[in-house]
Parts: sequence; structure tokens; C-alpha cells
Amino acid sequence: MAAAGGKLPSSGSRSSKDPAVMFIVGSKIQKVRLIHMKKSANKKGFLVDETLSEKVTHIISELETQDQVVKSLKKSHPSSDVEKICGQCHVVTLEYFTSCMEEGIFVEVCDHHRLKTGKRVAPIMQSKTEENPYENAKYCCQRITPLHSVNKKFSDALELLEKHADFLGGDNNLGRALAFRKASAALRAYPKQIKSMGDVEDLYDLKGGKHCKRIIQELLEDGFSTEVENIQGDEWFEVMQAFTGIFGCGPATARKWYDLGHRTLDDIRRSEYSNLSIEQRKGLEHFTDLNTPVTRREAEKIHSIVKTEAERILPGVTVIMTGGFIRGKDSGHDVDFLISHPEEGREEELLAQLLQNLRAHLIYTDVQRNTYGEAPISVKRQSVMDHFERCFSIFKLPKDEDVVTTSGIDEERIHADEEEPSSPCKKLKTSGRSSGSTHGTSENESKSWIARRVDFVMTPASQHAFALMGWTGSRMFCRSIRDYANKEMNMILTSHGLFDKVNNCSLEAKTEREIFQHLNLTYREPHERNC
Ligand code: CTP
Ligand code: MN
Ligand code: MN
Repeated sequence: MAAAGGKLPSSGSRSSKDPAVMFIVGSKIQKVRLIHMKKSANKKGFLVDETLSEKVTHIISELETQDQVVKSLKKSHPSSDVEKICGQCHVVTLEYFTSCMEEGIFVEVCDHHRLKTGKRVAPIMQSKTEENPYENAKYCCQRITPLHSVNKKFSDALELLEKHADFLGGDNNLGRALAFRKASAALRAYPKQIKSMGDVEDLYDLKGGKHCKRIIQELLEDGFSTEVENIQGDEWFEVMQAFTGIFGCGPATARKWYDLGHRTLDDIRRSEYSNLSIEQRKGLEHFTDLNTPVTRREAEKIHSIVKTEAERILPGVTVIMTGGFIRGKDSGHDVDFLISHPEEGREEELLAQLLQNLRAHLIYTDVQRNTYGEAPISVKRQSVMDHFERCFSIFKLPKDEDVVTTSGIDEERIHADEEEPSSPCKKLKTSGRSSGSTHGTSENESKSWIARRVDFVMTPASQHAFALMGWTGSRMFCRSIRDYANKEMNMILTSHGLFDKVNNCSLEAKTEREIFQHLNLTYREPHERNC
């Protein structure tokens, strides 16, 4: 096979007519990976030397410095004049190799392709600057994790694997899901673009992560990951994604439906309707709306409606929009409100009245009373759900920009509390698969409003700061700060308070800053908690 494009680079003493030959240093590259690299290079017509000879023009390595390459080659090729060979050719990164594979020729060697001479500098030290302090901290609550990461390509891939593992379920897979998420969080916080495997090797949460590293390596070398693409093209995954998109349907139910042979929303409407909870029925009915991201503008409109109504009932009340929006996201899957009053306990009774006054907007409500009085904080530990009085709802938001008052809406639709779903046949398609989208819905395209998921959470003043932290998220940030509190400070942090196990007492906080102080942590703004 003819050698791919390249001629000998101008370094060294050989004739520029000699063909370019690459040698790949095996050190730090997985065996299968190495074989794959050599195969694809050969396939594309590149000459690859198996033994380090003087013909070699490009030495490709995953190591970080030329010194390391020389050291490694001396070990593997004791009979070669390693220093001389390295001296007369280009010693370059895997990124260079990837560029060559993409272009099909030996591309020009630029400065950033060349391995540095001298000792290796830890990536953390390199990136630590005044403007962008980065610490390769153990817990993600110690790091700054911005909304927009330069390593999105990598974190997105790992989060897809997280979702896949989450869908599979079972303790083992849930553990894997968390490991993927932790790795993705580490990459999201890393302020520089990942360019080589050397950049990630020292990152916490990637140290033992062989699987994660393999994915990152594939992305670095090939620009894509076969495993990720396989998941994206997988029917089971696609169906699981659609089913879990139904409000009230988690992975376990979705798996059950898949195993029963269901593949579309219409299958569920047809065969499972009588088994569905009211929540799931509503989720199916408003599937398209609820799977269309809520925009910040819509969230602000809802905020204004809720706030106006709450203030009318209880002057001095605070209605804070939390969740993804407070972290700077432009859209989200729902809108989260924390409702409180500076005077302890004044918020009691408010929710019922508020929902009553907002009834024209509410298509569905699931109200739960508070249970924080029932167990001391030290017992509650890190239970999944907190214990505030709350309402998970579906909110009907008028599409008309001008209509923001509660009176502007038609009330023809039933409310959740009065709801007894009418015959399924009336609302749901009973015919075969709908045309167009595989997961068609029965929603009315021409309606003047859009259904939005809204969470209301009622917090007493003394617990408000803790609740704010819990509901600001991200989920990973909260998991991490609770883990940190427990392991590093011997304290229990929940959305209700902070308990010091050593001194056997609760620590009060009026603001999130005070919670960080109690925990000896640098304060992180909500927009820095996007892990
Ligand atoms: N949360 C919680 N208890 C729940 C639901 C949510 O404590 N029953 C917390 C989550 O841990 C998260 C925050 O509230 O930190 C917001 O949850 P959620 O709305 O699910 O996520 P967002 O980050 O707001 O993402 P999105 O923008 O998609 O809504
Ligand atoms: Mn949210
Ligand atoms: Mn929510």
C-alpha cells in the first residue's frame, strides 16, 4: 500500500524524499487501543514501523514529555540508539495522530503537537491562574463548575452513559451511573479544553475510571465514541427515553412496559391506560408540552403570576425561583419555587389558599403535607425526598404574551383535585401508531396555552437557607456537599438543617453563605454549582 501523502519533515539529516514513517509508543496506551490505532493507520496507507528504526520520522506518544518518551523507549528498545532517533524526528501527541487520521496525510507538525522537553508539569498547576482559580479538589462542591464547560463534548458523552446505566437499573448500574456522573462533573469543572489523556489522569473521579478514560480517548482520537453512538442508535434506549419522558414514569416502569412489548406512547395509551396513575395519564396527555423545555421567559411569567397571588394572600411572603434557572440555565424541565416568610411558621396554610386562587392555571396538583416534625434531622439523614409541604403540579401558561393575570384563562379544563379521568377513549388515540413521530400524542396543537411542570415548596424561615441550597442544586452538587459534610466534617447536611455529630447539636444558618462557612468551604455562587 502506498504511503499516505507525507514526506519527511525537515528535521534530521535524511533526504526529504524519504517517506514519512510513524512509530507509536505503546506506553500508557491500552493494548486494544494500540492495535486499533495501528490498524486504522495502515488502512489509511500510513507507514507504521513496528520496531523503532532510523526510518521513523514521527514518534507518536501519549506520554507528556520527550524525556518520558526517551526513557520509555530505552526500556522497550534497549538495542536502538533511542536518543539519536528521537533527536531526528518529530515527537508528537496523539492529537497529532488524530489530525493525520482525519486528513489522511501526515499533517504539518505545529508547536502544540510537539511533546515538551523537560519534566512533566501537573495539569492542575498549569491551569491555576489568578482569573480562573482551579483546584483539582476531591469534592465537586469545592470546585467551580460553570454552566458552559469547554469540555462539553466529553461530559455530554459521559452523561449519556450515565443515563443508560440509570435506565438499566439495579445497584451495580446505579453505582456505574454515579461514577459516570462524577467523571463528567470533573470534566465540566476543568477550565481548559482536554487535549490529551495526560490532562485527565490526575483528575479526581477519573483516577480509577477505566471505562470513562476509554471514552475520552476515543473522543480525542477519533472525534467520536462507538459506544456512545451505539447507545444513541439503540431502540431500547430510545424507547426508554420516550417512556421516562412521561411525567410520573421512572426507569423501572419504563423497563416493565418495554418488556411487555410496548414501543410507543400509543401502545401505552392503548394497553396500559387502566393501570396508569393520574400523574402518568396527565403526563401522556401533555407529553409534547412537558417535553418542550420551559424557557426562562416562561419561568419568569409563571413566577410573576405565583408571586402576585402569594403576596395577595400573605404580605411579606418570599417566592424564590430556584433549580436550574437560579444556576443560570436558559431553559429547564420545570420551574421550582421556594415559598417562605421571614416570620417562622407564617407560611403554614398558605399553600392550600394559593393553589385555590391559582386553580384556573392548574391542570394537575399533587400536594404533600410536611413531615419534618416527625423525625429529628440526625435520623432523617440523606433521604431521597425532603420533608417540606409541597405541590408538584402541571401549570397552564397562556401563550398570549399579554395575558399574565389569573383571570385571563378559560376554565373549561378540569382540575386535578376534582379529577376523575373521563373515558380513555375520549382523550386518547385508540388507533395504531400515530403518523409522524413514533411517540405521537393526543395534544391539541392549536390551544392557546402550554402545559408546564411547576414545583411549589413551602419552607419555614429557620430551614429556608438549607432548603434553598437543596433546591438550587445541581443534584450532583448537593450530593457532593452532603457527602463532604459527612466524611470531612462529621456533620449531616439536609434540606432542613445541619447537624454536628461531634458536638451533638444543630447549626443554624440564615443564608447559604453561612452554611458554607459552617462547613469550612469557599462560597460558590449558584451559577458555579453546575456539576
Ligand atoms: N430536588 C429535591 N427534591 C425533589 C426534587 C428535586 O431536593 N423531590 C432538588 C434536586 O436535588 C435539585 C433541585 O431540587 O437539586 C432541582 O431539581 P430539578 O427541578 O429536578 O432539577 P433542575 O436542576 O432544576 O433541572 P431542570 O432545569 O431540568 O429542572
Ligand atoms: Mn427544575
Ligand atoms: Mn423540580
